[in-house]
Amino acid sequence: MEGDDMKRVQIAVAGSLALATLVVCQAFPPFSALAEVTPLDVRKAMIDSVNPAALQIWDVGNNAVDDDGLPDTSKLDAATLNSLKDGATLLSEAARRLSHAGQLRASGPDLVGGKVPEGVATREQIQAAIDANPDGFRAFAAAMGDEADGIVKAIEAGDSAQVAELLVSFDGACQSCHERYWYVSQ
Ligand code: HEC
Repeated sequence: MEGDDMKRVQIAVAGSLALATLVVCQAFPPFSALAEVTPLDVRKAMIDSVNPAALQIWDVGNNAVDDDGLPDTSKLDAATLNSLKDGATLLSEAARRLSHAGQLRASGPDLVGGKVPEGVATREQIQAAIDANPDGFRAFAAAMGDEADGIVKAIEAGDSAQVAELLVSFDGACQSCHERYWYVSQ
């Protein structure tokens, strides 16, 4: 008798779980379906979005220095800050796409004479590094998004000193992920 009651409880729990799953899936079908079937091409994201946004940011950073190469906030005029804000906003958006991607697909380097250039990771090596820790990859992307957002916020707050400081350390977001997920040839 007691055993039967227990079984009924278990079935009821299993039933409501299944229902909950069904409700969740029905509520978000386009999003979950899209994330499942469309892998994000990491190299394409770098070339089409991340790198152009970074160039726009570097362009400002390289010019906003004095003769000794030290940050010079007097060179951060309104037009320059506008351009910087655009670049940082684009980078933030690109970073969020990477950090929220379901499947991540590496394309690997262009072949030279049919071969992967020496010292460069192959598509398979990059893919293996991502597959070994995709959440780590997403975390690096999220960190890059946070850096970009930090630049936007500092501009909005009118804090030129903070902007200049963030420009100096900005490359770190690229480097740390590249070391872990791109330069993986050995
Ligand atoms: C979350 C990880 C991550 C971050 C952050 C990241 N990258 Fe990348 N990047 C990669 C990976 C992985 C590859 C190799 C992609 C492939 O071959 O599929 C790559 C490749 C590239 C490439 C080479 C594309 C080619 O021609 O093969 C460029 C350029 C690039 N990244 C620029 C940047 C810049 C600039 C930043 C910072 C603003 C940055 N990346 C931040 C992971 C990252």
